[in-house]
Amino acid sequence: MPNNATALPDPDWSAITDRVDTAGFALTPPLLTPAQCAEVIGMFERDEVFRSTVVMARHAYGEGVYRYFADPLVPIVADLRATLYPPLAELANDWARKLGDPTYPTSLPELVAACAAQGQHRPTPLLLRYGPGGYNCLHQDIYGDLTFPLQVAIMLSTPDEDFTGGESVFVENRPRQQSRAMVARPGLGQGLVFPVRDRPVVGARGHRRVAMRHGVSAVHSGRRHVLGIIFHNAR
Ligand SMILES: [Fe+2]
Repeated sequence: MPNNATALPDPDWSAITDRVDTAGFALTPPLLTPAQCAEVIGMFERDEVFRSTVVMARHAYGEGVYRYFADPLVPIVADLRATLYPPLAELANDWARKLGDPTYPTSLPELVAACAAQGQHRPTPLLLRYGPGGYNCLHQDIYGDLTFPLQVAIMLSTPDEDFTGGESVFVENRPRQQSRAMVARPGLGQGLVFPVRDRPVVGARGHRRVAMRHGVSAVHSGRRHVLGIIFHNAR
């Protein structure tokens, strides 16, 4: 965890990754304190910490604004990204073996170097803000050829207090089956771990790739802030 978050206990990563493996996503215990959540929200207006801003309606992505952090990432984001990576790389490599994909490095600096070798230099952690009516269409987060298969979204607002509505939604498309919808409601500081694009599901003839898309249902009132930690960099 970030150095200044020593009050927070270490999550039980094997339980969390087991849950992602079996259920498709998992909630973590709080990864940031309420004060740290407020601190990250406070960065939203600081232009110097971001490299670009996306107004979602302009691209028909939904309704809301997100901002990609610039390099060097602010320490709290850099620490989270580096600390969250290794336990998730274990699951990513388990999945890679099941799907016959290339495996991933065990540390974030090695992944970042591998991304750079593929022309993916731009950092992908982002800060998202949804106001009333805000939502995020179902999507996947592909930023180049190298895709690390898991990401973490950290809830920075308090559901039912700072905002209403705005649930995290997932849709899983199994081949030749009807799609399955799932909903998550992370609390303040909690992380939501989920696939960027797909995951292996065991079938009659071994593991097969099941596509997952994620989004956010409409915020009814208030403001919903989330810190998104994607591990692969963008082209
Ligand atoms: Fe996303």
